[in-house]
Amino acid sequence: MRVGVPKEIKANENRVGLTPGSVREYLAHGHEVLVETGAGTGMGAPDPMYEAAGARVVGTAAEVFAAADMIVKVKEPQPAEYAQLREGQILYTYLHLAPDPEQTRGLMASGVTAIAYETVTDDDGGLPLLAPMSEVAGRLSIQAAAHSLEKHAGGLGLLLGGVPGVKPGKVVVIGGGVVGTNAARMAVGLGADVVILDRSLPRLRELDEHFDHRAMTRYSTREALEEEVIVADAVIGAVLVPGAAAPKLVTRDMLREMKDGAVIVDVAIDQGGCFETSKATTHANPTYVVDGIVHYCVANMPGAVPRTSSFALNNATLPFGLALADEGLGAVARRPHLKNGLNVHKGRITNAAVAESLGLAFTHPDEALLL
Ligand SMILES: NC(=O)c1ccc[n+]([C@@H]2O[C@H](COP(=O)([O-])OP(=O)(O)OC[C@H]3O[C@@H](n4cnc5c(N)ncnc54)[C@H](O)[C@@H]3O)[C@@H](O)[C@H]2O)c1
Repeated sequence: MRVGVPKEIKANENRVGLTPGSVREYLAHGHEVLVETGAGTGMGAPDPMYEAAGARVVGTAAEVFAAADMIVKVKEPQPAEYAQLREGQILYTYLHLAPDPEQTRGLMASGVTAIAYETVTDDDGGLPLLAPMSEVAGRLSIQAAAHSLEKHAGGLGLLLGGVPGVKPGKVVVIGGGVVGTNAARMAVGLGADVVILDRSLPRLRELDEHFDHRAMTRYSTREALEEEVIVADAVIGAVLVPGAAAPKLVTRDMLREMKDGAVIVDVAIDQGGCFETSKATTHANPTYVVDGIVHYCVANMPGAVPRTSSFALNNATLPFGLALADEGLGAVARRPHLKNGLNVHKGRITNAAVAESLGLAFTHPDEALLL
């Protein structure tokens, strides 16, 4: 198969669909890889690295879209991109179609077979192509909190790990899933005093065992949240209720009780945020202050570290991508987890949740694949 990697054109997106290391894997499977010039520059892989890996570097996105049987990307296609997709071609990338009728119409009109990273599943009921970005965001959240706690950034002027003879900072993590666990791991590593709240008891048991007393766990009730948040130096918002907006767990009243200069990092901002006072920010201007509390609410945190994020994403996408390249649509038909990733095929919506949220007809993937 001929696999194409265009340069991402969404603002401030520096990640890349295939790293040079992944290119070598596709070549080893007998495929050809076309990469648009500059596609990897933003994450530290300039064209010569792709050439050394065996890719053919071409001058324009149009050449990639015209020649490739499968397009591997990171972000959802922009209008100029989906206009170049066609029937018989596979698109493998993040799509997030439910809130995006325009893109959905564009993909349907193109006839392309679109596999969304975010709906590919695994045997444990997880979302393996979403998890790496949650890992990145979780770990980054503590870096963001530590930086925001510095005086010049508007924070308390506190070092999270403390020093001998001085107490460390207190980090409260709300939600002990992928983001929360990775945040807690970094905070524990810094030597902070860490509490994780979740409302899943089985999850709290796992976390208790995992952290072996280096982080405390607490069942998430209003009372527990209030008690912990009010004394925190940094609060990380990491809850997720699948398919719903994030619950507003920290109210403005609770915020007023917090210490002046304390920090909140609302990682769940991409689902609306779990602090009443959160609003989405960008890397260019990541924080703002409400009632003396520094808010960091960047909606695409992994974008700050495109190098790590590209490698992490590729590690997760590579096995499915190779299966698609090796077996074409047969890989989708035979692999239930990849079939769950199929969102659009030959103009039909093949993901029930996407169809429902956009009020469009749903075609079962098995039926669509016979078209
Ligand atoms: N801002 C970013 O750049 C970025 C990047 C990656 C992920 N995210 C977001 O981070 C959030 C968390 O993602 P995740 O992968 O960790 O999800 P996850 O499903 O692994 O974990 C969510 C956890 O929240 C818990 N939870 C639900 N309701 C709760 C409540 N009321 N109190 C306490 N805990 C509660 C769940 O039990 C679960 O353990 C999501 O909204 C995700 O979209 C944001």
